Amino acid sequence: MPSVLKSLRALSDATRLRVIALLEKDELSVQELQEITRMGQSRISTHLGLLLDSDLVRSRREGKRTYYRLNQITGEAGENFVKLAIQGARELQEYAADQINLKRILSRRREQAQVYFNQVAGRFDRVYGPGRSWQGFGHLLLRIIPPLVVADLGSGEGLLSELLAHRCKKVIAVDNSEKIVKFGAAKARKNGLKNLEFRLGDLQNPPIEPDSVDLAILSQALHHAEDPAAAIAAAYRLLRPHGQILILDLQKHGFVKAHDSYGDRWLGFAESDLQRWLEGAGFKKIEISVVAREEEPPHFQTILAGGEK
Ligand SMILES: C[S@@+](CC[C@H](N)C(=O)[O-])C[C@H]1O[C@@H](n2cnc3c(N)ncnc32)[C@H](O)[C@@H]1O
Repeated sequence: MPSVLKSLRALSDATRLRVIALLEKDELSVQELQEITRMGQSRISTHLGLLLDSDLVRSRREGKRTYYRLNQITGEAGENFVKLAIQGARELQEYAADQINLKRILSRRREQAQVYFNQVAGRFDRVYGPGRSWQGFGHLLLRIIPPLVVADLGSGEGLLSELLAHRCKKVIAVDNSEKIVKFGAAKARKNGLKNLEFRLGDLQNPPIEPDSVDLAILSQALHHAEDPAAAIAAAYRLLRPHGQILILDLQKHGFVKAHDSYGDRWLGFAESDLQRWLEGAGFKKIEISVVAREEEPPHFQTILAGGEK
């Protein structure tokens, strides 16, 4: 609660009434107040100093600028001071011009904020945006999924499995590399993920009970399987009725070095291959699409394929 005497003293000047009336709508910087009132910086600063001292106004610093706003005064006397000050300001000759200038400054502020987005409109998705990342989107999407039992087949060290384990009821990560399974299991333990279990096994015959899983994922794993059709059929068996399969893989490509560089058995798949194998396994509601294309050569493209048991 501001001191009554200090408030009365602060309100006994026409310029300070003008400032209070201007701060009613939004916070303003000294430069903005100068532009609106056409007064010099030192004069504005002196008046702001007195208003701060009376607690009718408060300030906040942002970089090199200080912004001033009306204090949220509780109590009848304080509220009345502000109301009276604004009423008084309305009687001043400068009031109308102040309000017109204020409107102009505030709309210029809004326009400045929009300039950037207007400039990048149409290519916004491709330019850098602070804090915007696929990781962020991934975590957001994870919050939407229900508590499923998931099999991550050809899991690697569990990049995806760990993410899923934060939201899912249980995640079973299967990989045929003993070293990877050991490493992944130790990492899951270290991260306290009790619902993530690593199992050593093959994509074509994963060590998981039939009809026990809600979602089977093969992320960049199918192109390592000796028999991809058999791996898809195996995933079908371990799913519960209406369970889903999701496959992320490479679209068929000609980058032969992938055999040696990445240990790939197959150079990606055509959509038609995936369609045939999913249908053959018994999946319904099949959806297949290319979801990403790398900027750099050889421009690998990612296919997402899904179906329901
Ligand atoms: C490219 S990594 C993908 C890892 C992970 N799914 C991801 O998206 O980050 C392929 C993984 O599949 C495993 N893998 C290869 N052939 C397999 C097979 N026949 N059965 C099970 N896992 C296999 C490899 O050990 C490797 O960890």
